[in-house]
Amino acid sequence: MNVKDLVMNNFRTEVNKRIANASKNEKLKNSALEFMENSIKSQYSYNFFWLGRPIIQYPQDVLAVQEIIWEKRPDVIIETGIAHGGSLILSASLLALLDLCEATENNTILDPKRPKRHVIGVDIDIRNHNRVAIENHPLSRRITMIEGSSTNEKIFKKVKAAVGDAGRVMVFLDSNHTHEHVLSELRLYAPLVAKDSYIVVFDTVVEDLSEKIVGDRPWGPGNNPKTALTEYLEQIDNTNIRAEDGSLLKLKIDHKIENKLLITVAKNGYLKRV
Ligand SMILES: C[S@@+](CC[C@H](N)C(=O)[O-])C[C@H]1O[C@@H](n2cnc3c(N)ncnc32)[C@H](O)[C@@H]1O
Repeated sequence: MNVKDLVMNNFRTEVNKRIANASKNEKLKNSALEFMENSIKSQYSYNFFWLGRPIIQYPQDVLAVQEIIWEKRPDVIIETGIAHGGSLILSASLLALLDLCEATENNTILDPKRPKRHVIGVDIDIRNHNRVAIENHPLSRRITMIEGSSTNEKIFKKVKAAVGDAGRVMVFLDSNHTHEHVLSELRLYAPLVAKDSYIVVFDTVVEDLSEKIVGDRPWGPGNNPKTALTEYLEQIDNTNIRAEDGSLLKLKIDHKIENKLLITVAKNGYLKRV
């Protein structure tokens, strides 16, 4: 092992120790929880932009998404829930950087007009002004938008056609947050995830919120992405569901990510295919 690797390994060991300590630090965890409650009340997640488009995410989750994309190097990312397109542009920008790094490593020429990696976004209602802004973004060549419900059979077929024979697929679920909808999404999209890659289920935080904070949304405590993923994980543990590549589908919650973030809308929602 060279000195550079040794230093990096030591650094990672220290990071892991800090994360493990944080997961037992009740004072820190309680202050994070208090921040989550207060920030949700003030609609904090609507305050951010990624390369010019509004992104409805917490900065901590954006950083975690960057880490898993860099580590797993997906060929394709499927996202349900486009809204203003910020998360689509985030994925597209990170995939563009992966293409750039790969071209640099391999000493090959990169043609930005013919991107290799791409992102597929599905939304039941792509507002015209959002569509136009996303289509006019410099990263738009990497983006395919599909309008319709993510759980509709015809829409899902279009997604699969857009994935084509891409090997490394990653999935982000951030559309309708009811139990029924997320469970259907998990049943459709989880089998597409490549081994060792991730499917991220956003807004599991709804389970921990009071009815008052949730308001008149169709989801709430007891009916949300967390309850859906709990049911789905039980189901795949007790049955032999196969992934698209023919091997057994097993997903594991990556608790290290939420223990690191502390502030996240996706506690238990970073699922790794093992
Ligand atoms: C929370 S926003 C997505 C935010 C976006 N991922 C971001 O980070 O900026 C949820 C989106 O899901 C869409 N949506 C709601 N029901 C849906 C469904 N059945 N299928 C697909 N999209 C849906 C809504 O139209 C809305 O744009």
